[in-house]
Amino acid sequence: MKVSVIGCGYLGAVHAAAMAELGHSVVGVDVDAGKIDLLNAGFAPFYEPGLPDILASALRTGRLRFTTDMSEVEDARVHFIAVGTPQQKHSAAADLRFVEAAIDSLLPFLSDADLVVGKSTVPVGTAARLAEIIQRHSGATLAWNPEFLREGFAVDDTIAPDRLVYGVPPGIRGEQAAAMLNEVYESAVTRGTPVVVTDYATSELVKTAANAFLATKISFINAMAEIAEVTGADVTQLADAIGYDARIGRRFLNAGVGFGGGCLPKDIRAFTARAEELGRGESLAFLKEIDAINLRRRDRVVELVVDAFDSEPFRRRVAVLGLSFKPDSDDVRDSPALDVAVRLHGLGADVVATDPEAIANSRRLHPQLTFEADIKAALEGADVVTVLTEWKQFRDIDPSLLSAGTDRTIIDGRNCLDGEAWRRAGWTYVALGRA
Ligand code: UGA
Repeated sequence: MKVSVIGCGYLGAVHAAAMAELGHSVVGVDVDAGKIDLLNAGFAPFYEPGLPDILASALRTGRLRFTTDMSEVEDARVHFIAVGTPQQKHSAAADLRFVEAAIDSLLPFLSDADLVVGKSTVPVGTAARLAEIIQRHSGATLAWNPEFLREGFAVDDTIAPDRLVYGVPPGIRGEQAAAMLNEVYESAVTRGTPVVVTDYATSELVKTAANAFLATKISFINAMAEIAEVTGADVTQLADAIGYDARIGRRFLNAGVGFGGGCLPKDIRAFTARAEELGRGESLAFLKEIDAINLRRRDRVVELVVDAFDSEPFRRRVAVLGLSFKPDSDDVRDSPALDVAVRLHGLGADVVATDPEAIANSRRLHPQLTFEADIKAALEGADVVTVLTEWKQFRDIDPSLLSAGTDRTIIDGRNCLDGEAWRRAGWTYVALGRA
């Protein structure tokens, strides 16, 4: 099929390359000319394992191209909207400017046989409003098809999703839209991937509900970590033990410095704001607590570092291992690790931060920090070391090869290290939610 993908960020660039990989003829559109040049040259503008490979192979087939010129989407029958919906500057609500601009610039090139497919995460009610505009101006149909990809696994999640959700209008138009989406995702559909065909509102809510649930799971275990810290209990053993109950499950129960990224934090805030607009603020008031628990974990790490310096962090050297919001990503949007590094710097500590992929993005936002690409050099002379993103490179550090000095402390902000091994090597090992 001929498809266009509007917005070539973390979601759209992967979606465009994956659609071409699946055999479709794809044009990706973005307003950022620099990004388009990189993509056309086969370079991923961000770190995502597997993306450079499928980009290169799809570009070689001639089925994939990128442009800043919206008129090039005219041939396509299916148009994916994959632009960002960040948090508004002065409120918790989502900023829909990019979605609206994408639709506005797409309208002149739509015909009534076209299908516009929203993938961006939007407040419930958005699709119905946009469908009306699209229908009135072009006769085209709108479907909402939320994306559930995880950064770091984005290519696999796009090519082999665990479910497909189609929000479509009622009647024959909806049936036609679902049939076109089944054709787009033919390989996943024939493999037996569950497909939920539903109305617009449900499809929008599925996405925000899923992220709200995941955020709740993480903050739940982090709340248990807070209780463990004052009772001498061990949150990782607690998570293992409750996780054996299949109804609870062990995944997404890793206590640590909390969730960040371009999705979970802003999505729970936007969901709360939307519930308030709908007069149902009380239904999602608990998400404010989820947010607060999450942010308190960052305070806790800062507190542990300050304690390790006997309340005098000024000019004391601290190594921050990890800057991205999670491993296998260079994304530092709302990253707990970067936030902690900045706060420690603000307290006057001599912070040296390292990350396998996220230094450039971090430096752009916070040039005041000192960065060191080499892990060994970052560790050099640091009295306190914090691991805030569980990259394999940090989990694999062998403490027996590092000098523990007289009084060095390692703070395991992700419960990802072998505490015993660090203690044996002479370090004071401190973890979140563990005595
Ligand atoms: C998340 C969802 O997992 C995806 O399903 C969704 O499609 C995506 O948001 C989105 O809305 O686009 P992602 O932001 O890539 O994906 O990252 P996650 O793997 O969900 O991790 C989010 C944060 O939670 C990270 O900072 C991670 O370190 C943290 N986390 C995760 C924990 O603190 N503990 C855990 O047990 C799991």
